[in-house]
Amino acid sequence: MKRTAAILLALALVFALTACGGTAATEPTAAPATQAPVANTDPDPVPEDTVKEINIGVCIYKFDDNFMTLYRTELERYLKEDLSSDDVKCNVTVVDGKGDQAEQTNQIDTFIANQVDVIICNLVQSSSAATVIDKCKAADIPVIFINREPTPEDMALWDKIAYVGADARQSGTFQGEIIAETANKGDWNGDGVVSYVMIMGDPENVDAQYRTEFSIKALTDAGIEVEELVKQRGDWAQEKGQELANTALTQFGDQIDVIFCNNDAMALGAAQAITANGRTVGEDIYLVGVDALEECQQMVKDGTMTGTVLNDHIGQSHTAADVALKAVNGETLEKNYTVDYVKLV
Ligand code: GAL
Repeated sequence: MKRTAAILLALALVFALTACGGTAATEPTAAPATQAPVANTDPDPVPEDTVKEINIGVCIYKFDDNFMTLYRTELERYLKEDLSSDDVKCNVTVVDGKGDQAEQTNQIDTFIANQVDVIICNLVQSSSAATVIDKCKAADIPVIFINREPTPEDMALWDKIAYVGADARQSGTFQGEIIAETANKGDWNGDGVVSYVMIMGDPENVDAQYRTEFSIKALTDAGIEVEELVKQRGDWAQEKGQELANTALTQFGDQIDVIFCNNDAMALGAAQAITANGRTVGEDIYLVGVDALEECQQMVKDGTMTGTVLNDHIGQSHTAADVALKAVNGETLEKNYTVDYVKLV
């Protein structure tokens, strides 16, 4: 028995030694330490980590503006749907300046504090461009100005800024040409002079200045004599267009051959005033606007508006978004990106 027990003990010892030896040989103590870094540098991508997020702050001068509503809606859609992909996600925040530059400047400060990658800015006051540029330059956040053009001096302040818009001289010229191309060249009462009412946007805006100037220049360039009966600011708004046209029609009656409006919203108001005063577009008065709002395109077809000029919010918003992403990618920017107007009669 003692011998058997001794043999069993010896066998158990051999087994135990072999087992320990095997374990020691296949489990180096350094293994966990060397495996961990390998696991951390695993080249297999985790999808969420590879999506590049771009934060874009958009300042609109005021939401309550027909044309800028079309513009901002398309801008946001294009950035979120067309320019976002599996690799890039555009996070867009659009804010309403409510026609108040102090409010918009605060909104820009907030975008800077939140470290957005780029700002797309429709200034409330073009004259505030330098302040906005200085702030964004200090924070190294590029700015793409839209719709309200800063001066060339302001645009020279930094290279990470650009302006995307349309040349308002062209829209004014088209408005004048629409009238010069009518059968009676704009002169309903046959007195040899085109007597007109000019309903302006806000006079600080180059769109308003150029449309006012170049619509009339197109008539005089065509050798047509003109007389300005009224020139008033309507701030791009339908109610003001209606009010101003109504006052002018009451005061000047049949003397008025043409009502020029710097935009379609004001032309919609003027059209209401024309009807209320017993006048008929295409029969005893002409009416032109700019923007080609859907309603106005229909009115041009129906003859209740003489013509309008397409202000291409789709082309402009897409260009603004494309240029904003170029800026984020550090590409060199042009100073101006211009989208053409189109005459609609
Ligand atoms: C013009 C447009 C107007 C108004 C204005 C705002 O280009 O024709 O309807 O939106 O911009 O700045």
